[in-house]
Amino acid sequence: MSHFQLFPERASTVAGHVDTLFAFLTGVSLFFTLLIFGLIIFFAVKYRRRAPGEVGTPTSSVALETAWTVIPFGIMLVMFVWGASLYFTLYRVPADALEIQVVGKQWMWKFQHMGGQREINELHVPTGRAVKLVMASQDVIHSFYVPAFRVKADVVPGSYRTIWFEATRPGTYHLFCAEYCGLQHSGMIGHVIVMEPAQYQAWLSGGGAAGGAETSPVAAGHKLFLDLGCHTCHHLNRQGIGPMLTGLFGSRVQLQNGQTVVADDDYVRESIVDPLAKIAAGFQPLMPSFQGRVDEEQLMDLITYIKSLGTQQTQAVTVLPPQGAPGTATLSEAWQGAAAAVPAPPQRTETQP
Ligand code: CUA
Repeated sequence: MSHFQLFPERASTVAGHVDTLFAFLTGVSLFFTLLIFGLIIFFAVKYRRRAPGEVGTPTSSVALETAWTVIPFGIMLVMFVWGASLYFTLYRVPADALEIQVVGKQWMWKFQHMGGQREINELHVPTGRAVKLVMASQDVIHSFYVPAFRVKADVVPGSYRTIWFEATRPGTYHLFCAEYCGLQHSGMIGHVIVMEPAQYQAWLSGGGAAGGAETSPVAAGHKLFLDLGCHTCHHLNRQGIGPMLTGLFGSRVQLQNGQTVVADDDYVRESIVDPLAKIAAGFQPLMPSFQGRVDEEQLMDLITYIKSLGTQQTQAVTVLPPQGAPGTATLSEAWQGAAAAVPAPPQRTETQP
């Protein structure tokens, strides 16, 4: 029994706060359960019928009724404010967080670091640094759950889910899928390996678990962008048939129907798999769907690439992979290729010589 643990280890910055709130909720529930059942038994004995024909006398007390209304209300408000503030802490991702992409699929967890290192069912993270997980599902609903960090979030196909944590202690912690997702659901488990920052850097530069130099998500996304022909309509330095993507990410997009949306991960993802869902104002509904042509990991790569195009002011060329990287054309080549391959849009023809 000495190894019997009521709680998992606490290995993240929020774990202690979650446990304290949980202890408070449990304590309040326990106290009132005992109080109410104790009073029921006490009054049942004290006011029991002593004679066969005995009839009780009704009684009331405004003070008592006010007390048992106001006090529990106050306690509930404490729970609400405390719970809500912790919820906001848990779901507001710190701006400087280290981003890692996660794809859940039957039945494994796949991770990709921004340097390109890939892992399956193992995730290496540093201590003392907020880690942001951008999660997608390739098939059905999964749930990413690391008890030691007190983080758990459903990963739903068709949109992104973002959570964060900051690990505090080096070690190896359980990772579970906490949503029944088919036959091998119970096998969809793994480990989060927390390392000191220096060790983590060494691990990263060692190429990660899979070993060898790997393509970063930005470079992989750039290659996909060219391979899929996205660049023929989406130019980087001028308007084409499709919207210019430089500076798009994070900006507000005016839609054909008059609405405005923020170009976040979900919007860009939807625009790739279901381009007609939200047409940007001033553009024709011409783009074909890429549903089924790119998987969730490739979608993430594409979005990371589009994200890397930064703001309008940023020089798009800064995202180019190292010179001579295999399989990548330079962006200017891509533009020229696009210009040659695509007939100029109608409004441009009148400016042609
Ligand atoms: Cu994935 Cu259960």
